[in-house]
Amino acid sequence: MQNCRVSGKPLHLINDFGDQPLGNGFIESKNIDKEYFYNMRTGFCEESKMFQLIEQPEPSKMFHENYAFFSSTSNYMKEHFKNFYSYVSNSGYLSKNPFIVELGCNDGILIKNFKENDYSHLGIEPSKNVAKVAKDTGINILEKFFDIDCSNLVKNEYGSADAILAANVICHIPDILELAEGVKNLLKPSGVMVFEEPYLGDVIKKTSYDQIYDEHVFLFSAISVQHLFNKVGMELIDLIPQTTHGGSMRYVLANKNQYEIKRSVREIIKKELKQGLDKLETFERFNQNVILSKNKLLKLLKELKKNGKKVVGYAATSKSTTILNYCGINNDLIEYIYDTTPLKIGKLTPGSHIPLRDHKFFKNDMPEYAVLFAWNHADEIIEKEKLFSSNGGKWIFFVPSVKIL
Ligand code: TMP
Repeated sequence: MQNCRVSGKPLHLINDFGDQPLGNGFIESKNIDKEYFYNMRTGFCEESKMFQLIEQPEPSKMFHENYAFFSSTSNYMKEHFKNFYSYVSNSGYLSKNPFIVELGCNDGILIKNFKENDYSHLGIEPSKNVAKVAKDTGINILEKFFDIDCSNLVKNEYGSADAILAANVICHIPDILELAEGVKNLLKPSGVMVFEEPYLGDVIKKTSYDQIYDEHVFLFSAISVQHLFNKVGMELIDLIPQTTHGGSMRYVLANKNQYEIKRSVREIIKKELKQGLDKLETFERFNQNVILSKNKLLKLLKELKKNGKKVVGYAATSKSTTILNYCGINNDLIEYIYDTTPLKIGKLTPGSHIPLRDHKFFKNDMPEYAVLFAWNHADEIIEKEKLFSSNGGKWIFFVPSVKIL
């Protein structure tokens, strides 16, 4: 069994989600015999306070030339990243002609804002297909995984960074200690690391266990991020909660004693201690809540099926893979899932093999119920699909609790 990736100590087993395919492993029916599964379990370390996956597939199985996730599919996220850009550029932490690096820049949704405003910049992205989209818009791209070697390469070729940014990326990197060392190595002494990720505090509070899938090796709290970066001589200087991904946190870090520590750091850490994010019992209770949520969703879908209702899914998020496989939901309970991503349409959901349909047909098909898997984009989707609701269609939610809207 994998030990804690930060402390090296044995992990306490928290959740066992059984055999799971890759969250983004959307598959053609001809390939289902060769489908890859692994045992998805989570663990908690009492020393580092890090909540993490116990086993994880090889990163090259997940991030490759056919990576199915394009960040720019959501208008809301485009706007969010414009705000992220404004935050960094107005932060007061940058030097006169700053050099900005983004780790895992995907199709360039964040870094393009720096490019458009003539910042010296570099996006580091290992998945070739999404990197190509970014490159084609003129963004400077290095197609690599970020590690110590990569940080040395960037430092030698481009110089040290004023800011290293990442969004929904750091939690994907199993060698998190090497990542922290690489960040420290690449930053100027006055440089800052700004990254945001789905927030553990929200996952625990909302039982949003779909945030747990192969790509999310970690779910961070301020306590665990502080512990990790302290190891390389860095510290949190600010924390800014975000509404994205159903609740995220923006972490701002710098070398120790470089900047004033904002009040938010003390306040949020105090809140986390109150929530028990440093205690094993909190995670054991979370597992009980996960089991209850699963049973409730299954009961509802089985009842609707028994009553002859037509139930579909909306938005085949990578998160939905955990729900579908853990609950054992297949196309008997959910006929189709509608989605906007061209790479997914026509394929099947990983493991559960529910066919994916172009979202254009959602209105014509007029199902009676739709499970909203992209619950984090609920406002945008419900507004876009007003016709569904006005024709009597009902949304099914499972976060923060199972309910029909
Ligand atoms: P995620 O950002 O939560 O991972 O969700 C991304 C998936 O949701 C992606 O496959 C596209 C899909 N999606 C839709 O189908 N319609 C929408 O309106 C939105 C916002 C996302």
